[in-house]
Amino acid sequence: MKSISEINFKGRKVLLRVDFNVPVDENKNITDDTRMRESMPTIEKLLKDGAAVIIMAHFGRPKKGGFEPELTLQPVAKHLEELVGHKVVFTQELLGSGKPEELAKNLQGGEVMLLENIRFYPEETKGGVEFAEQLSKLGDCYVNDAFGAAHREHSSTAVIARFFPKDKYFGFLMEHEVRNLEKLMHDAPRPFTAIIGGSKVSSKIGILENLLDKVDNMVIIGGMRYTFTKAMGGKIGKSICEDDKMSLALDLMKRMDEKGVKYYIPTDSVIADNFSNDANTKIVASNAVPDDWESMDCGPDSVNAIREIVLKSKTILWNGPAGVFEIPAFAKGTHEIAKAVAEAGKQGAFTTVGGGDSVAAVKQMGIADKMSYVSTGGGAMLEYLEGKTLPGIAAIKD
Ligand code: 3PG
Repeated sequence: MKSISEINFKGRKVLLRVDFNVPVDENKNITDDTRMRESMPTIEKLLKDGAAVIIMAHFGRPKKGGFEPELTLQPVAKHLEELVGHKVVFTQELLGSGKPEELAKNLQGGEVMLLENIRFYPEETKGGVEFAEQLSKLGDCYVNDAFGAAHREHSSTAVIARFFPKDKYFGFLMEHEVRNLEKLMHDAPRPFTAIIGGSKVSSKIGILENLLDKVDNMVIIGGMRYTFTKAMGGKIGKSICEDDKMSLALDLMKRMDEKGVKYYIPTDSVIADNFSNDANTKIVASNAVPDDWESMDCGPDSVNAIREIVLKSKTILWNGPAGVFEIPAFAKGTHEIAKAVAEAGKQGAFTTVGGGDSVAAVKQMGIADKMSYVSTGGGAMLEYLEGKTLPGIAAIKD
């Protein structure tokens, strides 16, 4: 792995791709700057060496082609100034106008420049080679720290690397993500338990299949578990279900049996008579949900069973909440699993959390720092766990 730690960037002009696609509120205040803070060690290292750092980042999914005021990186530039502690050169003018080119040319060692939203150029998401070349001319080497966008074969995340065959590197964030994911997939201490949730089997099928050969225990939670329960003949009431995926669920269970993977699907559920915090609730067997009721969370027996599996594990991968955790009345299962994973970590297990909702849950509880590794990538981590090659990683490794 080509790491920036081995290089001194003094006098270099570094093109750094980051993922600053951070959530903002209606006033464009950043509500979670984790991704920015996680790239600060890379930025600080480059600045300390004396490099001029030109940052490329995207924000949202611009559609119009060209500048869109609501998707400007201006608020990110402002916040970045606070994080680096000095001015960040930024212009809303786009490449081609001459302005960003001139600012990049005059950028001095120890200075930072942020280019306007790289997706304002339609060529970016098409992986345009000419656009990648245009970008490459702004600097003399390339560092990719954008794990969250590593599954995109875009000009600035992957294609640009071919213009720096001898001068392309992973940033620290990227290196950390890749190292942990490789450990998880190829060198995980046993027993290895995957806890996979999410509302649909169809969105997690790739992960479930890829993990079949890797894990000892598979815990299936979230909305997708009802498809399994119904496929086994259970009554699930109004709980979410993909009827057309029931045979797939049966096939997955058969394959887990054949491979000796122990699987656990919650046996009791918190059910509700409507989808709200003040709904009437009951705890019932997961396969005996009355017709007009809907399952919203794991029940206490299931939480205990999952906890027991987790505490006997040496590696835990958790992706996806146990229930509708954004509604406080149905957050208990997710919170208890988070606590169990943190406890296993305290006992020495390698604990990893990925995916928007489970990451949000551990952050909400203030226990993200109790995990061995919390991924900054949503789609990127999912695709990695599905066994796919991520273009942003391959472009540096090749
Ligand atoms: C993310 O937020 O997951 C990344 O920044 C990638 O964004 P995208 O799904 O719009 O490519």
